[in-house]
Amino acid sequence: MKNWKQPKTKTGDAVTGEYYFRREKINDYFWSYMNKGVDVLFVAPRRVGKTSIMKDLVANAPDNFFCIYEDVEGALSKNLFYKRIFYMLIQKMSRIKKAKTLFSKWSKKYNIKSVGLNKIEIEKEFENYYDEVIDLLHEIAKENIKIILFIDEFVEVILNLKNLDEYKEARSLLHELREIRHNDKLNNIIFVFAGSIGLHYIVKEIGRPKLINDIEPFYIPPLIENEAFNLINQLTKDATIQYNDDLQSYLIDKIKYLLPYFLQLMLQEIDKIAFIKEITDINETIIDIAFDNVIKNTSDFDDWTERLKSYSGKKYPFVNLILTCIAHKEKLSIQEIYNLAADDKNIADNFKDLIDELVKDGYLTEDNNIYRFISPFIKEYWLYKNPILPC
Ligand SMILES: Nc1ncnc2c1ncn2[C@@H]1O[C@H](COP(=O)(O)OP(=O)(O)O)[C@@H](O)[C@H]1O
Ligand SMILES: [Mg+2]
Repeated sequence: MKNWKQPKTKTGDAVTGEYYFRREKINDYFWSYMNKGVDVLFVAPRRVGKTSIMKDLVANAPDNFFCIYEDVEGALSKNLFYKRIFYMLIQKMSRIKKAKTLFSKWSKKYNIKSVGLNKIEIEKEFENYYDEVIDLLHEIAKENIKIILFIDEFVEVILNLKNLDEYKEARSLLHELREIRHNDKLNNIIFVFAGSIGLHYIVKEIGRPKLINDIEPFYIPPLIENEAFNLINQLTKDATIQYNDDLQSYLIDKIKYLLPYFLQLMLQEIDKIAFIKEITDINETIIDIAFDNVIKNTSDFDDWTERLKSYSGKKYPFVNLILTCIAHKEKLSIQEIYNLAADDKNIADNFKDLIDELVKDGYLTEDNNIYRFISPFIKEYWLYKNPILPC
């Protein structure tokens, strides 16, 4: 069909600009933390929108804060982690007027070859980038510049160190960062960490839960209905396929647990179906077909399995058993869950912790000791992946 206009959906990376749907209340709440000078941790499963939110916060920060964003996922050692922060700090500081003198000093000190919008070449190499980062931070503090360091995929760095059996290195990194946070001379620096896996879970396993107890978790809630309507309208504004109020309500009701990503997947799939069928008016049946198609595209949801595997480790078979039973039977009571755990003492002793974690993490919801999937998408995905009833 000619002149077909797709909705402005994107389902790969973080979204920005007109592809991004801003939720003012999230931004407002975030800045209220920053004004208090509190360090925060964005924890939510992959594709809930952490990176998109952080990028929006960085791009629209109030003038009194200078924001620096860095994705540190590939940093496989403590030193590499600090090296990334070191480069990022210098490169970003080169762009603010207030740090002009500072930057020319660093230019000489570190032999900076070139600096651009997104890259920097520094000739000098260091054995210990932690010391250099500390120096930089102290110098920035003396200039009275308030900075917020957004460190994306931080939890993954700690998890990688743990998986490499580098417990000492992981503890030491957490310990040093805590010292920076508690250093009175560095009060102008605020950390915003992010990750897709519960940091407290990993930190508990490496035996140092106290190292992060000063960081406030920042919860990203799913959209409320009104926001979902607005998101649909924003993304389909100029599109060929339009949704009247009834269709919007039907779509929202179908998705129930309203992550922007789930809406994006649906709008994209509905558009594709309509295009192939050469129709410009959609209906509820098309929404149903799109839902079934989206579930079969399991790679969009595989993260929900992978992250559970990565932190529940040996307990994954039990966690998977519970989720599979709930997917098949719609719901399980806490007693039924306990009965499934009872044979294995290791599991039975802390089965409630595991279940609480599944609730906190956006898999299950609990009402009166009855557990169900919170998202029909995740439930159907689980069913699709685990078609045999194990209980
Ligand atoms: N505010 C938003 N507006 C529009 N789409 C969003 C928004 N937040 C998340 N998404 C959708 O979710 C996907 C993943 O977002 P991203 O920020 O990468 O999540 P995360 O960092 O939590 O993995 C995006 O590609 C987009 O489809
Ligand atoms: Mg991300």
